Amino acid sequence: MITAATLALTLLVAQQPKETEKLAPYYPTPDSVVQKMLEVVGLKKGEKMVDLGSGDGRIVIMAAKKFGADATGIEFDEALYKQSSAKIKSLGLDKTARIIHGDIMVQDYSQMDVITIYLLPLSNEKVRPMLDKQLKKGTRVVAHDFEVGGWNPEKTITIEDDGEGRSHTLFLYLR
Ligand SMILES: C[S@@+](CC[C@H](N)C(=O)[O-])C[C@H]1O[C@@H](n2cnc3c(N)ncnc32)[C@H](O)[C@@H]1O
Repeated sequence: MITAATLALTLLVAQQPKETEKLAPYYPTPDSVVQKMLEVVGLKKGEKMVDLGSGDGRIVIMAAKKFGADATGIEFDEALYKQSSAKIKSLGLDKTARIIHGDIMVQDYSQMDVITIYLLPLSNEKVRPMLDKQLKKGTRVVAHDFEVGGWNPEKTITIEDDGEGRSHTLFLYLR
């Protein structure tokens, strides 16, 4: 039998904001690989792009500065959010680039032309259903090093050496 106390407790738990789950540790993409990601995904001037877990903001900054995109990063780590927002401001890019201090899992991606992802394999599986629900037809997604399980890549690109002896793989998806 559901008592009033049980009901009250259930309602209370349901109302609590969900804790942000860490979908990957901070591990930046080398600049040469960032450039390749944005080229492979065909980012064009004026297009809307978002980086899921934007770290120090390097993908967002290059997307706005070199490719002329309208670029957004989502980052929950406060220090990284502040550092990347300050860099955007100091570069005078604040009209076309911004970082949202928040959780990747609770944003609206429905207007995005391009999505960049560098998260762990299991995290890619967690974001996939949300992206499946939200993305408009034709959105391009590029994932660094880890596939988005359940999606078929249009292209898989291997970068043999990033200049520091590390190889990288990029997966390009068309939704
Ligand atoms: C592997 S790093 C990639 C950074 C950047 N995208 C790059 O490629 O250089 C992943 C980033 O995602 C952030 N992150 C992890 N889980 C998150 C979440 N739930 N919401 C927002 N950011 C998150 C981490 O703090 C970290 O900065």
